[in-house]
Amino acid sequence: LILILDFGGQYSQLIARRVREANVYCEIVPYNYPIEKIKEKAPKGIILSGGPASVYQENSPKCSEEVFNLGVPVLGICYGGQLMAEVLDGKVNRAEGREYGKTKLQIVGGEELFKNVGNTIVSWMSHTDFIESAPEGFEVIAKTDSCPVAAMENKEKGLYAVQFHPEVQHTQKGKEIIKNFLIRICDCTPDWNMGDFIEETVDKIRKEVGDGKALCALSGGVDSSVAAVLVHEAIGDNLTCIFVDHGLLRKNEGDQVEKIFRDKFKINLIRVNAQERFLNKLKGVTDPERKRKIIGEEFIRVFEEEKKKLGKIDYLVQGTIYPDVVESGTETASVIKSHHNVGGLPEDVDFKIIEPLNQLFKDEVREVGRELNIPEEIVNRQPFPGPGLAIRVLGEITEEKLEIVREADWIFREEIKKAGLDSEIWQYFAALPDIKSVGVMGDERTYAYTIALRAVTSTDGMTADWARIPFDVLEKISNKIVNNVDGVNRVVYDITSKPPATIEWE
Ligand code: XMP
Repeated sequence: LILILDFGGQYSQLIARRVREANVYCEIVPYNYPIEKIKEKAPKGIILSGGPASVYQENSPKCSEEVFNLGVPVLGICYGGQLMAEVLDGKVNRAEGREYGKTKLQIVGGEELFKNVGNTIVSWMSHTDFIESAPEGFEVIAKTDSCPVAAMENKEKGLYAVQFHPEVQHTQKGKEIIKNFLIRICDCTPDWNMGDFIEETVDKIRKEVGDGKALCALSGGVDSSVAAVLVHEAIGDNLTCIFVDHGLLRKNEGDQVEKIFRDKFKINLIRVNAQERFLNKLKGVTDPERKRKIIGEEFIRVFEEEKKKLGKIDYLVQGTIYPDVVESGTETASVIKSHHNVGGLPEDVDFKIIEPLNQLFKDEVREVGRELNIPEEIVNRQPFPGPGLAIRVLGEITEEKLEIVREADWIFREEIKKAGLDSEIWQYFAALPDIKSVGVMGDERTYAYTIALRAVTSTDGMTADWARIPFDVLEKISNKIVNNVDGVNRVVYDITSKPPATIEWE
């Protein structure tokens, strides 16, 4: 076990991900996690995350000083490293300017931590404070032009600190550095895998829920499907899945979901046909955040009603994954969109929430799904937002617009599959901007809707690039949409990456 003490850094979860990628089990706990509990857990190593505070400020977050005397290797990253320096009587100071972004790192030691890393690497920096001088007993093992102590070690005590962020992709050999810490320094055996994650999670859910009853919000997307099957493994028939057909699904999706979960997985499934109810609530609403909020609230109401019919229900299972949590705002990250399954939750929910996937990134969730023998057609299914087509019909939602976007989306998806591009493109769909434009069909003037095609490559949805779909494929799709979907006379292709755009249009 590797214990990560979280000081509120932006990248804490990314550290955990890198540790998992190195096939080592880890847990994230708050920075002030009691020392007795740390001892109880008997970690093989401890990582101190970055964080926004300054170590020399009063009330800055500090872990127990004993952490450095447990005889367990410690790696401090950024703030975590500065804390190590401060506590052990080194010197941390405020730099004149921020050092931010890619920075050349010169490696001058650290034969274990920097094994196979080379003499110079590009590292990712994001800090204002810096370690001015290393504490006694420490050796400087890396520097940059503006950082005299970009990394330091006390080999004897197993204490290591780095000013840069080895966990982010922009740091060359960052994975290697973390791996070195885990395997060479902490002596971890790289044998943990997603199968173990499943076992541990199933165990935890079983213990927590006991004989209690759980409801799962099943949408048929990857996340909620994996969450449902995972919880079903743990508590079997004590789980009931509610599949709300809110009328904002893609073509044929409702029936497909029903078939797979009822017939294949033998999961208790209730399908609620609430199309009209949602459309009524959304009538006249144009603001994207309001749409999300309304849909999120309506979802919960539907559950409450179903729950009443089912008798006592103690838990609600949700397929929230880590990027949803980040984008809905944590202590340090600001709100970008309130994803309906997190930020949009009304506060008067009267059951406990289980989110077994909230520490995982999308590709990790897919891996879990495969381990659970969920068929590829679901595991590989592209992500679909909880609010569904409501955020792909821009402006006011009407039946007519939904029908248009559904048909265009169907054609787009079929053609992408036919072209054999579906495995390279992470997410692809049609959106209906609230635009009408002039066209000519036959000899007639038309005044009809524009369809926007969106297709992106990504690994975790946090960043994305627009997919380079060949022109002839785009041409075919465009022709087919205009010829087959009534009310559409123009098709455009979105060529913006995320950032600055987002994947969805709302
Ligand atoms: P954005 O548009 O924020 O999307 O770049 C990132 C990923 O999240 C999905 N998404 C949502 N998923 N509820 C969800 O469950 C939402 O409200 C929501 N908004 C966006 C989006 O499809 C993409 O995969």
